[in-house]
This record gives sequence, C-alpha cells and structure tokens, in this order.
Amino acid sequence: MATETDEIRGIGHSVRRKEDDRFIRGRGTYIDDIHLPRMLHMAILRSPFAHAKINSVDTAAAAAVPGVVAVVTGELMAQHNLAWMPTMSGDTQAVLATDKVRFQGQEVAAVVAEDPYVAKDAVEKIDVDYEPLGVVVSPAQAMADGAPLIRDEKEDQKDNRIYHWESGNKDDTDRAFADADVVVSLDTHYPRSHPAPLETCGCVADVDPATGQATIYMTSQAPHAIRTVFALVAGLPEENIRIVSPDIGGGFGNKVPVYPGYVVATAASLLLGRPVKWIEDRSENLISTGFARDFHMHGEMALRSDGTMLGLRTTLDADEGAFHADAQPSKFKVGLFHIVTGSYDLPAAHVTADGYYTNKAPGGVAYRCSFRVTEASYLIERLVQNAAYELQMDPADIRKKNFIPKDKFPYESATGFVYDSGDYHAAMEMALEKIGYDELRKEQQQQRADGKLWGIGLASFTEVVGAGPHKDYDILGLKMNDGAELRIHPTGKAILKISSKTQGQGHETTFAQIVAEELGIQPEDVKVQHGDTDNTPYGLGTYASRSTPTVGAATAMVSRRIGEKARKIAAHLLEVDEADIEFTRPNFTVKGAPEKAVTIQDVAFAAYTNFPDGMEAGLEGSYYYDPPNLTFPFGTYAVAVEVDPETGVWEVKRMVAVDDCGVRINPMIVEGQIHGGLTEGYGIAAMEQITFDDDGNCIGSNFVDYLLPTAWETPRFELGETVTPSPHHPIGAKGVGESATVGSPAAYVNAVIDALQPLGVTNIDMPLTSAKVWEAIQEARAGAS
Ligand code: CDP
Repeated sequence: MATETDEIRGIGHSVRRKEDDRFIRGRGTYIDDIHLPRMLHMAILRSPFAHAKINSVDTAAAAAVPGVVAVVTGELMAQHNLAWMPTMSGDTQAVLATDKVRFQGQEVAAVVAEDPYVAKDAVEKIDVDYEPLGVVVSPAQAMADGAPLIRDEKEDQKDNRIYHWESGNKDDTDRAFADADVVVSLDTHYPRSHPAPLETCGCVADVDPATGQATIYMTSQAPHAIRTVFALVAGLPEENIRIVSPDIGGGFGNKVPVYPGYVVATAASLLLGRPVKWIEDRSENLISTGFARDFHMHGEMALRSDGTMLGLRTTLDADEGAFHADAQPSKFKVGLFHIVTGSYDLPAAHVTADGYYTNKAPGGVAYRCSFRVTEASYLIERLVQNAAYELQMDPADIRKKNFIPKDKFPYESATGFVYDSGDYHAAMEMALEKIGYDELRKEQQQQRADGKLWGIGLASFTEVVGAGPHKDYDILGLKMNDGAELRIHPTGKAILKISSKTQGQGHETTFAQIVAEELGIQPEDVKVQHGDTDNTPYGLGTYASRSTPTVGAATAMVSRRIGEKARKIAAHLLEVDEADIEFTRPNFTVKGAPEKAVTIQDVAFAAYTNFPDGMEAGLEGSYYYDPPNLTFPFGTYAVAVEVDPETGVWEVKRMVAVDDCGVRINPMIVEGQIHGGLTEGYGIAAMEQITFDDDGNCIGSNFVDYLLPTAWETPRFELGETVTPSPHHPIGAKGVGESATVGSPAAYVNAVIDALQPLGVTNIDMPLTSAKVWEAIQEARAGAS
C-alpha cells in the first residue's frame, strides 16, 4: 500500500482559488446566462411617487403591445392572495401595490413578454392614476405631529414607530454617569448606503404546470431560507420548490431579502406555464433593493479624569423605510448593535433604539457587516477619540488603558455578549509600529507648525460573527444552524456539499482546505457544491461573515466524523487494533511502526471493497453545526491623512490594517477579503450616500449620483496580522469577510477630524466629501474670527 508524502495543502496554505478558472475565462454562469426553452421576460413598473394613493391602474394599452403575454397588477396578485408577503423581520411588504405606494421605486405592476425590450416598452404604457400624499423622509418627520400614517393598512399601527428596543442595564449606567468626572458625547448620522453589487438582482422562475415542480434560479445569498418562505407564502409543497443560486456577482447583503420581483416572476410562471426571467437594471437595484445603515445615533461616554471608562449610553433612531425588512435574528431588533461597547472593558452600558417607517425603500441589510455592528463600531470609535481630546490624552493611550485585557477572556460585555478571545493590545502595538506612530505624531507637530492640516486616526474594532447558537438566533423562527455533507468516493476523491452560498469569497477553495486538513485529501480532489436546495444541506445563508464560523465548523466536524470510520477501516487494513492507529496526516499509521501505513485513498477504496464484517459500506456523512457561541474577530486600523484647507480634499498618506480573524484557512483569500472590505470602508467614509429630497425622490439612483471608489481613488493598504484562535471553533477560525468594512470608516473619519482639530472641528458626518470638509473648515474659521 502506497503512502502519500506530498504536503497536504490544508489550513494556512494560500491555495489559488479553484473557482477562478471559470471566472477569469468568462465561463461563470450568472442569472442572466440562464436561457430556458419558451422563456418569457418580465419588466416591472415602479412608482414615481414616494407616497401616493392609487386610484386606478389601466393596463389595456400595455396588454395590446405586440409580444406582450400578460400584465400583472396588484389586484391580480390579490386574487391569488399574493399581494403582500412576509419580510425577514416578520413585517409585511407589498408585492405589487394595491392601495397606495409607499416609496419611490415601489413595484406597482409587471409586464411579461416574449422579449425583454418589449416588456420594458410596454411597462411605459401602463397608466396609473396616483393621488400624491404627504411624504416622510426621516425618523424626526415620522414622529412629528400630523405626520402622514405610512402603514395605514395595518390595523394596530397608529403612528410610524415600528419598535422600541433596549439592552444593557439602565440603573448601573446612570450610576456610572453620576460618578463620572467627564462625560463626552457625539451625535452622528450613519448615512444610508447601498451594497451595489456588480450583478443586480434577478431570477428565472420555471414552474411546470404538469408536475407542479417550481425551479427558481435566483440571485440569493440564502437559498434554503428563501425556499421555506416561498413554500409558506405561495402554499407550494416545499419538496416541489428548488431554488438554485448560480454564480453570484457580489452580494454584500443585498441578495439576502426576498424581493417582489422574485415573487411576481414565480406567480407569472405559475399562471402562464412558461419560464419567466426578470433582471433588474442598475437604477432599479439602487432605488428599490435592500439599503444599509441610516441610523441617527447619539452616544455618551462617562470617564474618570485619568481616562478610565465607566459607562456608555446610546440612543438611536433607525430609518427602516416603508416596510420593516431587515434580515436579522428576530430576538435583536437592531441587529447586533449592542456590541457597541466594542473593545473596551466598560462596566456599564445601556442602549435604546427606536425604529420608524419612512417613505423610503425597505432594507437595513447587513452590507458587509454583521447585523448593524458597523454602526456600533463607528459610534464607539468616534466617541473614544472625542474622549481623548477632552482629557488631552493620546488616542492610542486611552484605548490601551481601557482595552479588555488578554487575560479577561472569555469576557462578558455589559450588553450580554461573551467575547471568545482577544489580544487587543497586540493588534494595536503592531499597527502603531507599522505606521511609525510616534514619529508620525512628531511629524504632525512639525506640519501643524507649518500651517498644514495633518491627521492620524485610529480605530480598534471588535466584530461579532457566526450567528448563531440556536437558543438565541433565528430568522422567522428558523434556527441559524448550518450543515455540511461529505462523500468520499472509492478513488479517494470527495464531494463536499455545504449550506452556504459563495458570492466571491472563495468557499469552493477554503472549505476544501478544511477537508484537506482533517482527512489528508488534497483540496483539488474535493469538489465543493453549494447554492442548490435540492443538492445541499439546509442552512440560513451567507452574510455577516458567518460561513467560516458555522459552515466551516460543520465541515470540520463532518470530516472528523468520517475520520473516525476511516480509522476503523485503516485498522482493518493494517490488521491492528483501532487504538493502535494514529492519523499522521496524510497517512494512517501504526503507533510505533510508522512504516506500516495506509492513505485516506486506500481507506476510501476499502470502504467500498474491503471493509470489516458488520460495518456499513461507504465513507460519507453529514453534520449540522450549532455554534456554542459567536466568534469575535478584531483589529486596529491606523490612517494618516493630509487635508487641503483651500479645497477640503483629503488624501490618505498611509493606511495600516492589522486584523485578527483567528486561524487563517487561506491567508491569500483572507487578505483579499480585507482589501475588499477596506475599499468599501473607504467608500463609505468618503463618498457613498443615498439621500432623498423633501418629496422622497431618491438621489442616488445611478453611479453618477451614488459614488463608489474605483482603483484610482482607493488608498494603498498595508496589512498586518495577529492570530488569536477562537477556543470553541473546531479549527480556531473566526470570520473575516466584513471586518474591514466594519472597522475602517471610523479610522478615516478620525484621521480627518484629527487633522482639523487645531481649528476646533469635532464632528463631520459621513461621507466626508471635500465640499463638506471645506464647509467645516470655513465654519470653524468664521467661528474663530
Ligand atoms: O460568510 P462569508 O464567506 O462572507 O465570510 P467568512 O466566513 O469571513 O469568509 C470569507 C472567506 O475567507 C471564506 O473563503 C473563508 O473561508 C475565508 N476565511 C479564512 O480563510 N480564514 C478565516 N479565519 C476566516 C475566513
């Protein structure tokens, strides 16, 4: 029997991404690449008004356009009980409007035609008689006297408030503030932004009237959960629904919710007995699909005069749009915002949050973040800098003084999280050293003396990813546990089926590396399948950096389960007792006699050809992982900027990012994730923002108004890493996909504020456009003169 001596490229190897072979050759299969026989095309009519009563919808002219097969209205959907659908937050959302429209871009009707251009043209011919109503575009307006009631169809809804939520201990926090020497505060708005994936949303719905089988190809980050929702909404038997998420051109949270387009295309296919394709255009994606953030936040920190933090108090108003559609664990109304105590040993904290309906698109998606942790991280990191200024301390020193010490983990935060592991001082020290912090501070003094505006900004974030333990984490009652199935074939090659759905993160490579690590099969010999509900185990989807903490763990656990059987077969082949076998990857060897060895390939062949009497044939298994806790990645980011006082333009001189995501499965992929996240963080700090005018018109419906960073303006990133494994994760990994977007905006903003500090500027809300920075400089100068 042969022994395998090649090094197994398991955990810690920068294996090149297996999926890139098809992507760089243009051979990926995205939704728009799917063409089915007899397929029709659908286009959606959207409301031009943010709030208006619908008096009538006349479809006659549209229906008469040659090539049009059907026009679908809210009334038709209502006849099938499909005019409304549940949202991921347990609210309801109009599929096609019947009574009134509640945001600009809302779905009103749809045309199904033989050709996509005919469908688009015919949509223009639908005549809707709207009666405009008063418009609400902020939480303040939502609660103002006489505000129009947006959700008047809900019997118990008497105003525009959706929820009130609290976390932490109010009395302890009040006491901490009473004992404080100093209190600092910050009011800030984290602007509404949009994930804007390269590929917009869409689907091809294929309902076979003969068999009742519904196959829906869909841009979805959560195909299994969506299948269950479809079964419940449409009343179709779940086994007859197959959701296939093919290759996805970026999700970033935007492809988690169920959008009306999916439901209307499926209903149209059901009614017409033909496949129906619906593909959004760019403006539709920007104005109607899941936005992110839009939190109006107030934070206060209580401190002793030596800089010791005593307590934190935050209140926030969440602008949820016209339907409450956040995809987040149902127990937590503002996602995991209550991680707002961040990296600090804060004895007391109290968080209150109120959510409001406004005449804006629904969403609140986890745009590269773990359910609102981005907003929380931004608030605390900005407050800490204010505290440092107030106490005339260095922003690095005040952080170091208050970090949760390494020996206090596992650490229970004042709002109830149990942080698994961390070494915040180590990450901070590495970032300071890399950027040459002490030298930079001296240089800053010199530059300031020369009249230049130089700033250094820090952010030490703590993330919370891997939702989650079944006792606390569910979406619409579905527990957030995930599965993996592994089948090893007689020749020792394997298929791993996972519940997560990659949208570019490299799951086909990294999860194969986990199998390699555990069983000694090279990653190229492990095919990873995902995204097809008929062929993969159940799971709640891919967002919030949860894949590695949940599916990665399930993969390790199923490999171990199979490894136990492999050991028995190896003992049989080597004719020794099972207790005498050890797995010295890549070989199973006899203890004390390493020359007696078999490979996993030998074992796999034997599992089908030569297994012990009484043993079941085959080498396969499945595992559903219920994480005992979330994982808590962290890091310190340091940014140096120079601001031009005459134009407000700020230039990033240095950007250092030290991340700790526990054990890194594939260091190259992790670095790619961090680069992508840092770019999105820079975009949010510098330019991304969707605004609305007083009539609720969306300013940000195209890439001229909604700015995204290109390679041209993106700064150069210098990366560093520390490794603090998660003690409860089977391979010690934490997630990383979101960290850089969560952590970095505060570092950029802190740097710009630091540059303007000599002028007395203490706050500018994101995005820091040069115009806003220039205005702040002018105001400060006018105030000083
Ligand atoms: O859920 P999502 O895939 O977006 O996030 P993730 O679990 O943070 O993983 C992002 C990518 O980085 C995946 O390919 C992971 O397997 C990889 N990763 C890694 O190689 N090592 C880690 N410690 C964390 C993630």
